Amino acid sequence: MSSISHPIRIAVFPVAGLGTRFLPATKASPKEMLTIVDKPLIQYAVEEAYAAGVRHMVFVTGRSKRAIEDHFDTAYELESELEAADKSEMLATVRAVQPADMDCSYVRQPRSLGLGHAVLCAAPIVGEQPFAVLLADDLMTGPQGAGNGQGVLQQMAGAYQELGCSLLAVQEVPPDQVQRYGIVAGPGAGQRLMRVERIVEKPAPQDAPSHMGVAGRYVLTPRIFGELRQQPPGAGGEIQLTDAIARLMTKEAVYAYQYEGKRYDCGSKEGFLQATVELALQHPKLGAGFRAYLRQLEL
Ligand code: G1P
Repeated sequence: MSSISHPIRIAVFPVAGLGTRFLPATKASPKEMLTIVDKPLIQYAVEEAYAAGVRHMVFVTGRSKRAIEDHFDTAYELESELEAADKSEMLATVRAVQPADMDCSYVRQPRSLGLGHAVLCAAPIVGEQPFAVLLADDLMTGPQGAGNGQGVLQQMAGAYQELGCSLLAVQEVPPDQVQRYGIVAGPGAGQRLMRVERIVEKPAPQDAPSHMGVAGRYVLTPRIFGELRQQPPGAGGEIQLTDAIARLMTKEAVYAYQYEGKRYDCGSKEGFLQATVELALQHPKLGAGFRAYLRQLEL
């Protein structure tokens, strides 16, 4: 293990997916702009990356995803109107979306060729540095809920600085749900860590090597790009990030990190609703009133 690891300064957000599971809501709006309480999903992921020290956000976008670019850009008209109306709290909320020391880059994924292909589209911008990948569908809260405690990527960035190796966020998943995840197996390697010896994308329950499923947070070394370039299409005819990680593992160590916190699968309607209810309950201004409202419902 080396102790020369650099901090993670750049993160990739694959946001080109069509969001078919949320039609018709996603017919004309990106699924990443669906809102949990008062923020779009993508903003939760970007804030998590920023809190982990990342200052360059790379969005791998596609057609009809303009709203994401606009969201992380200056909104001149809105800001000057809020300023003129002396609405300073709202102005601060709008400006906080785009901190002055945060850079955003956008690259298009021209065809839906899979998560691995989306990550590869970011290679010319990332270059030869370690980077994070965040899937905005997975809304992750730290151990103390929304907005508090160390976020999941921050925990992983800390582990990366000690190990200097690629890391995958993992959680135990119900045995009948393994076919929704990349599944990893390997020996324990200290607190919350496992050295990955096997990784399989969406196995059938009888073929799963364990019940440890990959959540949508990765820290990867730039060597993954070489593996992705050579990666033939796998499950679903797509270039799978999981398959490229399996090849990377034969050349350098890859660890699974069992994060502290909670994951909401906002790619599913159930997960989206759970996140909405729980984050509303944790909201500093809405929480108490919403709790009282839920209590008086006849369920
Ligand atoms: C992707 C990955 C999978 C991972 C999952 C986490 O799948 O391919 O390995 O477990 O994200 O959310 P998707 O959910 O995009 O089908």
